[in-house]
Amino acid sequence: MSRSTEEFRSVFKAARRAATPLIAVRTADPASTMAQVTASLNGKSEVPIVAWDILNGLAGRNEAGKAAVAKLVGENAGQLGPADALAAAQKIAKDTILFFLNPQRVWEQVDVLQGIWNLRDVFKTTGQMLVLITTPGAALPTELQSDVMVLDEPLPSAEELAALVRETFEAAELPDPSDETITRAVDALVGLAAFPAEQVLAMSLSKDGLDFERLWDRKRQAVEQTPGLTIWRGGETFDQVGGCENIKRFLDAVIHGEEAPRVIVFVDEIEKAFAGSGTDTSGVKTEMTGTMLSWMQDRNADGVIFIGPPGAAKSAVAKAAGATAGIPTVAFDLSAMQSSLVGGSGERLRSALQVVDAISQGRSLWIATCNSITSLPPELRRRFTLGTFFFDLPSADEREAIWSIYEQRWNVSGERPDDDGWTGAEIKECCRKAWRLKLSLRDSASYIVPVSRSAADQIEALRRQASGRFLGAAMSGVYCADEPGSVLSPKRLVRAAIE
Ligand SMILES: Nc1ncnc2c1ncn2[C@@H]1O[C@H](COP(=O)(O)OP(=O)(O)O)[C@@H](O)[C@H]1O
Ligand SMILES: [Mg+2]
Repeated sequence: MSRSTEEFRSVFKAARRAATPLIAVRTADPASTMAQVTASLNGKSEVPIVAWDILNGLAGRNEAGKAAVAKLVGENAGQLGPADALAAAQKIAKDTILFFLNPQRVWEQVDVLQGIWNLRDVFKTTGQMLVLITTPGAALPTELQSDVMVLDEPLPSAEELAALVRETFEAAELPDPSDETITRAVDALVGLAAFPAEQVLAMSLSKDGLDFERLWDRKRQAVEQTPGLTIWRGGETFDQVGGCENIKRFLDAVIHGEEAPRVIVFVDEIEKAFAGSGTDTSGVKTEMTGTMLSWMQDRNADGVIFIGPPGAAKSAVAKAAGATAGIPTVAFDLSAMQSSLVGGSGERLRSALQVVDAISQGRSLWIATCNSITSLPPELRRRFTLGTFFFDLPSADEREAIWSIYEQRWNVSGERPDDDGWTGAEIKECCRKAWRLKLSLRDSASYIVPVSRSAADQIEALRRQASGRFLGAAMSGVYCADEPGSVLSPKRLVRAAIE
C-alpha cells in the first residue's frame, strides 16, 4: 500500500475518532473511495454502512447497514429523494457511515443544503458520519464550507501502481515483469484512478506481455474526459524544426537534465485566456489566474513563455519538446475550462490541475505561447521561471534549414522564391501548395502573403517591445532587434508595409 492510500485512510480514521460529522471526499473513483473508507474500519462489521444515490435511494452496504435502513424507513428506502433521505437520516442508527453520491448535482437546492447542515449537530452527538462522495475539484456551496471537512482522495501513486503491475502479472501466472516493463507501465497508468488502472492492466495483458499502446489509450481517454485537457504522445521532434537553435538547446538541457520533467504542459496562446485578468467583471479570469499561479508556485513548477509573431514556430517547438524527451504533452486549454457557470471554471481548472499533478508526480514543465506581450499579467510572466523567449522571423540561414525540411517532406525542388521576411509557416505552406497543386515553388509563392507584410506594424512593434527584454529563440543571449543578422531591419519592414 502506498503512502497516499495510507495517508487518506489515516486522515479518515482521525476524522472519525474526532467525531467529524460531515465530510466531502473529492474523488475520481467513488467505488475505490467507499472501499477505502470501509477498509479504514478494520473489519468492524458492527458499523452500519449505508449509501444514498438518486436511483436506489437509501441502501445498506453491509448487514448492519441493511438493518439500519430497514429500521429507519422500512419498505420506502428506495423511494427517498435527496432531501427526504437526509431528513430521515437524522434518526439513523448510531455510528452509521452514510455515503451520499453525487451531491454536487443537488446540493445547491435549499432543502438538500439544509438537510446536510441539519445533520451536523445530530451526527456529532451520536457518532454517525455523512460522507459526501463528489467529483475532483468540486466546490462546496458557501453555506456548507465551514461545516464540511473536504478530503481529496489521491489517485494511486507510482509505487502503488508498480505493485499493481506486479500483482497483475502474478495473478495471470506470467513471469515477473522486468524493471523496465514496470516503469513503462507505470508511466502509462499514472494519473488513472485505481479502478480503471486495474481494468486496463488486465485488458492489456496477454501471454506475450503488456500492450503499452493499449495502456496509453486508456489514459488518453481518461485525461481527455477532463474538459480542456488533451494528451499527445509522439509526433515531430526538434529535428523537424528549422532554426530556433538557442531554445532547442535550452529545452534539450532541461528535458535531459536533473529532475527532468515527466510531462510537458502546453498552454497555447495564453494571452487569450488571460486577457482581462484583474479587470474582468465576473472575476472568473482573475480567479483562474490566481489558481494557476499558486498551483505553479506550490509545486515549484518550471515554465517558459514563447512570444513572437504568428507562424514563427512557437507552437511547433512547444509540441516537439515532449516527443524529443519521450514524455507526453498535455495540451491545457484554459478557454475550454472557462465555463459559463459561475464557479464552474475554478472547478474545471482545479480538476485539470489535479490530473496534471497525477501524471507529472510533481515534475511538470509548462510551455506557454503568446502572440502579444501587453495582455499578459506580469505576475504570470514571473511565474514562468525559466524565462521568456522571443521568436523572431527566421534569418536567412534559418529559412534555408526550413526549406530543406519541407522540400524533403513534399518532395518538391527547383528555384526558391524570394523569401525575405517569410516565416516558417509560410515556407511550409509554399512547399505544400507546390506539391498539392503541382506548381513550381515560385508559382506557389504567388499565393502567399507573408505576415511580415500584412502585419508589418504589429510585428515591428512586437520586436521593439521584445528587444533588450527577452531571450532570443535563435541566438543565445538577450534578443536585440537591431542586431546584424536579425532578419528585417525596421526600415525594410516599413518599406514592405507601404509597398
Ligand atoms: N522554424 C520552423 N521549422 C519548421 N516548421 C516551422 C517552423 N516555423 C513554423 N513552422 C511550421 O509552420 C506552422 C505554424 O507554426 P507554429 O509553430 O504553429 O507558429 P506559431 O509561432 O504561430 O505558434 C507549423 O506547422 C510549423 O510546423
Ligand atoms: Mg501557435
